[in-house]
Amino acid sequence: MGENRLVYMDHAATTFIKPEVAETMLPFMRDHFGNPSSLYSIGREGKEAVETAREKLAKALGARSEEIYFTSGGTESDNWAVKGTAFARRKKGNHIITIPIEHHAVLYPCEYLKTQGFEVTYLPVDEYGLVDPEELEDAIREDTILISVMYANNEIGTIEPIPEIGKIAREHGIPFHTDAVQAIGNIPLDLNGKDKDVDMLSLSSHKFYGPKGTGALYIREGTEIDSYMHGGAQERGKRAGTENVAGIAGMGKAIELATANIEEHSEKIRKMRDRLRAGIMEIPFCRLNGHPEKRLPGNLNFSFKYIEGESLLLMLDQFGICSSTGSACSSGSLNPSHVLSAIGVPPETAQGSLRLTLGDANTEEDIDYVLEVLPEVVGKLRAISPFYRLTDECEK
Ligand SMILES: Cc1ncc(COP(=O)(O)O)c(C=O)c1O
Repeated sequence: MGENRLVYMDHAATTFIKPEVAETMLPFMRDHFGNPSSLYSIGREGKEAVETAREKLAKALGARSEEIYFTSGGTESDNWAVKGTAFARRKKGNHIITIPIEHHAVLYPCEYLKTQGFEVTYLPVDEYGLVDPEELEDAIREDTILISVMYANNEIGTIEPIPEIGKIAREHGIPFHTDAVQAIGNIPLDLNGKDKDVDMLSLSSHKFYGPKGTGALYIREGTEIDSYMHGGAQERGKRAGTENVAGIAGMGKAIELATANIEEHSEKIRKMRDRLRAGIMEIPFCRLNGHPEKRLPGNLNFSFKYIEGESLLLMLDQFGICSSTGSACSSGSLNPSHVLSAIGVPPETAQGSLRLTLGDANTEEDIDYVLEVLPEVVGKLRAISPFYRLTDECEK
């Protein structure tokens, strides 16, 4: 233990850029730096790269190229979908349905919309973070103008019943947005097949081995939505601003790589994840957060009683293990993760939460290493915890 190694288990936070992706991007930073709106050749090369990436994204999602709009990432895509639809459909009503475990990139725009006269229903989720489609249907009103439910949760990995929710939204004629930032590259999506009732979908390149600050919003043809950025005529006048050509080209390559052999790739990650999960569940007083089966293949989220998540994270860092926590200190607020609270994890238990998210950076040796280090670190922290009670029952 303590050898000088790095085990990156925070793929839900961000991923490394794959070498093929970096190679695709480099020429557009170095040689073909022209503005894609310019008519001379180095501009046209940029334009071609943007359109090639658009085609790759469309192909990977089962969409049409004209339905892909480039943005600066997941946050912008979510803001655009939520606010753009709300304002465009204001005359038809002012009610929005979403869930309390959404990323803040959806929740905070909804809170903003409340200040502008909109009403938001935050539909409760169950103990695993799952939405009940029947309850969602019951929450629909005459004046409901948007439904936004994430594809998969970034903290606990729970995968929502998106095709079922989409079907309900379609039957009621309500636009349906899904934040698929964590789903892309981890589970197959098909906007022309099982996900055909999704009208808007957000994605972010740095979650699938592409560059940061680059994303896209899929907008199904005919969806009512306001333009987001006003200015130049880029993105068919809907999202003004000179395109991030290198980033977009990189994202195109990244999605191509991330969706090729996705089943096989996910299975490999899932197997490693399940071995890690079984080993960690041996640690006393720990509970798994999120759905046991309906979860992203690389996601694990535990709460360890009697310890503080941030201390755990910092000690793991000393062993070269990168992880994440939903504890209060690390989230920068006094309350623990809004996701863990919404699924009913008591605050004192949520304080000791740890998220490990596996991906392409991991090997079976990493699993061995974490299983060697984590129980010892948890034991050390509990030894100095005044709350530690040996008599408590393990919440497996
Ligand atoms: C579910 C979800 N939505 C949105 C975002 C924001 O994406 P970006 O970092 O590209 O702004 C994230 C990032 O963590 C996320 O996990």
